[in-house]
Amino acid sequence: HTSLKQQAIDILRMNDRGGYTVPTARLYPYQWEWDSVFAALGFATFDRNRAWEEIETLFSGQWEDGMVPHIIFHKTDPDYFPGPEMWKSNTVPPSSGHSQPPVAASAMLTMMKTGGPEDRKRAEKLFEKLVAWHRWFHKYRDPDETGVVGIIHPWESGRDNCPDWDIGMEQITVPDDLGDLPRRDITHVDPSERPTAEQYNRYLAIVKFGHECKWDHLEIARNGPFFMVDPCVQFALMRGDRDLAELADEFGLPGIRDEAESWLKRAKEGCGSFWSEDVGGFVAKDLRSGTLSTAFTNASAMALYADAGDAAQQARLVREVTAILDCCTYGFPSWDPRDSQFESRRYWRGPIWSVVNYMIGTGLAEKGHGALAERLRGDTRRAVETSGFYEYFDPLTGEGLGGKLFTWTAAIHLAWAM
Ligand code: DGY
Repeated sequence: HTSLKQQAIDILRMNDRGGYTVPTARLYPYQWEWDSVFAALGFATFDRNRAWEEIETLFSGQWEDGMVPHIIFHKTDPDYFPGPEMWKSNTVPPSSGHSQPPVAASAMLTMMKTGGPEDRKRAEKLFEKLVAWHRWFHKYRDPDETGVVGIIHPWESGRDNCPDWDIGMEQITVPDDLGDLPRRDITHVDPSERPTAEQYNRYLAIVKFGHECKWDHLEIARNGPFFMVDPCVQFALMRGDRDLAELADEFGLPGIRDEAESWLKRAKEGCGSFWSEDVGGFVAKDLRSGTLSTAFTNASAMALYADAGDAAQQARLVREVTAILDCCTYGFPSWDPRDSQFESRRYWRGPIWSVVNYMIGTGLAEKGHGALAERLRGDTRRAVETSGFYEYFDPLTGEGLGGKLFTWTAAIHLAWAM
């Protein structure tokens, strides 16, 4: 009988494609940005060299303008749609045309703090690229310097089909020439656990707009079909800027530290613009219409990880976190179970996700809510004990859903929930 720890290590090894890991075979056969960074945290518990290699390979796909794309197509694979021919990135290696939650600064800081001189050296070598990526986010995702970054595609949030995005997605017109999409995902996973056809048409409409303007990111931010605030990206970036400042300090670069701190100061002020008094938390917001989303999500629960909000807002949102955990057997659900749009099995419309739990739990622990953090860590471990290393889990039953033998679930098990 192999221990869960050994199984997690085996999954990371099995999903290793040489310098990078795939999230899971077939369903996601390429390198995904945030999956990869969390994979590095898992590798760091047993193979430091391989952990750094994961992040180095990720940065090998960085665009000239600083963007780290959300998917890097190291070698073409017919199992996945939309592949490189749909994105038309015109880069080597080919990639998707937008980013994903910028979690690398935080992982690199964690790896440096838990490691030795070799870890420091590897972090220092990547630092310039890391800074360029953060600058890209501020320049192209917040061109008006509001302190709040937008996302140009639901996929940029990583929380693909969350009801949050329905607000922006409803305004997208699907071009007539899009045709029938050769979905591949629903040949690997039960369609009831994946986004709908309607959603896929709109996802591809945004991709089309992007490559038609040659991925001109200022044009996309100003006139693209979709531009919304995602609390997950915003909070990951704020936490990342804070950790970037600490890294800069370590490396004796006060200019960059000050730059990162000024981003953070502006962001803290900007957060007021997507606070919902009705919901009792920070929620997604459509930047075109100004509409706020209507429910508390696992991204809302990441506020403490970024230390966003004033004392009253933080107290209020912790009450919501507690109330939501009280109606789940396994936290933290990606949509409020008390809301009518909650679907316990459908991807980001209800299920729980280890990596988001890790960020929520880290924030809760740091801000003095140790019991809630432990509850979440325990739930994350229990879900794996109940069902195995699935992509996501039903918050009511712990049933494993989506892809199996999943890299980031294994990585978080090793790095946090063990
Ligand atoms: C997918 O294909 O579902 C991915 O999440 C897109 O990034």
